[in-house]
Amino acid sequence: MKKIVIATTNKNKKEELKKLLTGLNVKVLQLSDLKIYLPTVIEDGKTFRQNAIKKALTYSRYIKEMVLADDSGLMVDALGGKPGVRSSRFSRVGAKDEENNAKLLKLMKNVPPKKRQATFISVAAVALNGILLGTALGQCKGTIGLQPEGMNGFGYDPLFTPGGYNRTFAQFKSSFKNKISHRAEALKKAKTIIQKYL
Ligand code: IMP
Repeated sequence: MKKIVIATTNKNKKEELKKLLTGLNVKVLQLSDLKIYLPTVIEDGKTFRQNAIKKALTYSRYIKEMVLADDSGLMVDALGGKPGVRSSRFSRVGAKDEENNAKLLKLMKNVPPKKRQATFISVAAVALNGILLGTALGQCKGTIGLQPEGMNGFGYDPLFTPGGYNRTFAQFKSSFKNKISHRAEALKKAKTIIQKYL
């Protein structure tokens, strides 16, 4: 059976990506399964796509199996698209999710409910032996709440209510988030790319 390596050190993203890859006839590995030297990838791209490609290509030069990387984040309309590619380090490098959420709420304290639209973005990149096989974009539109709600998920999930629903991602079961999320959409497309090389 062919193998694919999920190239992320983010525990939550790893779990979601693993579930979203089910259905493919492929053995899913994590970076920590590989007992080889791997470089630290500096995410200095201006776009999610640039960062996703950089992660997939860099790791695939060290790993013989196919590599799947995801770069993702939240874009808030009222903040001109912030936190964007800086989502994981919005308040500081190495910030906890709670610190980023607190910063977001503070910046949005004067933004009325009708103007709190935001979009989660995920770009998946697939690479093999230093060659990019393809990228896939997923988006999920919604709104930012006035305070955190829910205990599931990670990152900005307690603040984000997907369009058409009245609960945050953190109030849904992961199985439901994995049906409608930005990452679900990106992975659905990425699976088509992966399938071609299996
Ligand atoms: P990355 O590891 O550089 O792609 O950073 C992703 C960051 O974006 C995470 O640390 C979260 O802050 C945010 N993010 C991305 N996807 C999600 C999601 O599905 N839920 C909540 N936050 C997310």
